[in-house]
Amino acid sequence: MVSVAVVTEHLILLAPAANRVYAADAPRLAEAELRVMASAFGLLDPDVSPARLAGVDYLALRTSSDLTPQARGLLSHLSAAHALFRRDGELLAPIELQQTARYPDDLVTIQKYRGKTNEQWTRLLLNVTAAATRSPEKLLDGTLQVFDPMCGRGTTLNIALSLGLDVTGVDLDANDFQAYSAFIKTWLRQHRLKHSAAESALRTSGRARGKQLRLEVAASKEAQKAGDTQHVTYLSTDTTDLEGLLRPRSVDVLVTDTPYGVQHGSHGERLARSPLELLDRALPGWTRVLRTGGAVGLSYNRHVAPRDDLAALLDSHGLTPVDTPADAFRHRVDASIDRDLIVARKSR
Ligand SMILES: C[S@@+](CC[C@H](N)C(=O)[O-])C[C@H]1O[C@@H](n2cnc3c(N)ncnc32)[C@H](O)[C@@H]1O
Repeated sequence: MVSVAVVTEHLILLAPAANRVYAADAPRLAEAELRVMASAFGLLDPDVSPARLAGVDYLALRTSSDLTPQARGLLSHLSAAHALFRRDGELLAPIELQQTARYPDDLVTIQKYRGKTNEQWTRLLLNVTAAATRSPEKLLDGTLQVFDPMCGRGTTLNIALSLGLDVTGVDLDANDFQAYSAFIKTWLRQHRLKHSAAESALRTSGRARGKQLRLEVAASKEAQKAGDTQHVTYLSTDTTDLEGLLRPRSVDVLVTDTPYGVQHGSHGERLARSPLELLDRALPGWTRVLRTGGAVGLSYNRHVAPRDDLAALLDSHGLTPVDTPADAFRHRVDASIDRDLIVARKSR
């Protein structure tokens, strides 16, 4: 008798927002993200491909056995995952995704402003950067320490918070700091979440360095009692001068959306037109804050920062760029933004 290998096919329904952000690129980007995540977690032999059923985009995943709870956890973390089904001929059986959001999702969607980095892209960047660290499981177990050294009005801060992670942000633009501080304090109050918020001047040895906001948040009264709280720190200061402000080797991932060098991009563009020179000045301080085994993930505009130049720059600061399949994450945002990401590891 000939034995036939049984293949189980799962279909991941992509969030409608993914198609709005990346237009036709959503399934391809989701596939690349899943491949990176799966190989980091060593969970699946990622036989993955985009699929279209009755005009709807899915990501098809074929495995030789049923999904383990860990694999389901991983799929639940994908930035574009909306729903999961097991395919049974023409029928789809729904499988519950694990709940990854600790707080109501308007935490990440409510703020709208010019220059906001798309939430889904920010989450994808966090995922693929965490996957490149020595301990990717920290993303799933909630212990990953996140740092966005050019955090603007806090997209990364809110995503990290919603995933139950501690996060630190830095931005020089005082208006961004004020806007984030006002937003988050109002949001926490409106949602009646247990928290403390302290805003104060930032000083070291009598030198004025800007401002700081420190938040401690709990998802419930019980969580607060059990000490299950998260910390958000936002420093309103120059990211190229972090000396004495953050503990060395205290974060696992550094993720940031670099200035796009275009007028209609972030209001922060006037601060730096090409990110390369800014990054060259900032990277010594950034790498100091990163743990050995940690990783840096940068989102950037290829029109103002060629990929090879960025890889060489990261390398010159002791970071090892991680190989991703060519152009796997590259996509067009508009005529002036050809967006991509690059990830590098701190091995020593
Ligand atoms: C593309 S925006 C990031 C937007 C952010 N991800 C968000 O969604 O709000 C780049 C940010 O870099 C900041 N930036 C530029 N130069 C800086 C510097 N020297 N120090 C700190 N932040 C800086 C700008 O103020 C701007 O907010």
